[in-house]
Amino acid sequence: MTKKINKIAVFTSGGDSPGMNSAIRSVVRTCAFMKLECVAIYRGYQGMIDGDFKPMNARSVNNIINKGGTVLKSARCEEFRTPEGRKKAYDQLVKAKIDAFVVIGGNGSFAGAQLFNEEFDFPVMGIPGTIDNDIIGTSYTIGFDTAINTVVEVIDKIRDTASSHNRLFFVEVMGRDVGHIALNAGVGAGAEEILIPEQNLGLERLLDSLKRSKKSGKSSSIVIVAEGDKTGKNVFELKEYVEEHLPIYDVRVSVLGHMQRGGNPTCFDRVLASRMGVKSVEALLEGKSNYMVGIRDTKLVLVPIKEAISAHTAIDEELIRVSDIMTT
Ligand code: F6P
Repeated sequence: MTKKINKIAVFTSGGDSPGMNSAIRSVVRTCAFMKLECVAIYRGYQGMIDGDFKPMNARSVNNIINKGGTVLKSARCEEFRTPEGRKKAYDQLVKAKIDAFVVIGGNGSFAGAQLFNEEFDFPVMGIPGTIDNDIIGTSYTIGFDTAINTVVEVIDKIRDTASSHNRLFFVEVMGRDVGHIALNAGVGAGAEEILIPEQNLGLERLLDSLKRSKKSGKSSSIVIVAEGDKTGKNVFELKEYVEEHLPIYDVRVSVLGHMQRGGNPTCFDRVLASRMGVKSVEALLEGKSNYMVGIRDTKLVLVPIKEAISAHTAIDEELIRVSDIMTT
């Protein structure tokens, strides 16, 4: 028989993403609604090891639905990767009489939760919070929508300068392993070319595309480059390469960096986070464990964490085709 759940902990882990606070708020308020005790863990798994806990009630999460970042702080914790670290964390949870936890984070955070569940038979539930949208089993992760809207807004501004000066801009966006931000924001901002880790189009194709673009009468161009792009050159090297091979272009570079992770979450991310928070607590109360809450076709689903971390979400081939057609 599964143990009755009276007290749930919630924390954020790994890279922050806009909407994490909306998810924290949702978990805390769902606990209050269900008359369960709720505890916040600060600084992710490190705070779990250190016993950095704080009791939460519905009022503890006032006025955070709109805030970027995470009020619970986040960390990447090396100690939790060791059996000794996880045992310390388990002892802290037992001492605080915590029966289950909800982790809001990405792949690495979920891998830690899964291991913890297997070692201690401790009920865990995941909520996908990362701007990368790279988690299998969910069409959206919390923060992705905000991030692509931030990127599009910035590229719109860059385009003003690009077109005023007839320039080519290489804009680097986040995505160490995946190109979802680059592809979606690139299509949304009308980029001329999008370089992503999933495809190595090669430098020749880039030059051909830029030549075609010039010939067709375009006076300025924006090329989006995901951090993990596989051409083998970073944005600054790409600039030099194009200047050398296509001197007709006046080239500039913009690296958007961490501004993509910050800012107030969009309504989409707030609603998604609120729905996932409710579902995570409900699922734990139904005796489910070791799942991630996902969304598919507008419906919430439970995905085994093992499946969620098995690989990165594949790039959307249809969107690549749309992008190719739009750059005509
Ligand atoms: O959250 C994931 C991510 O946005 C990646 O796309 C990026 O490479 C990484 O975070 C950067 O993380 P850090 O904050 O450690 O520099």
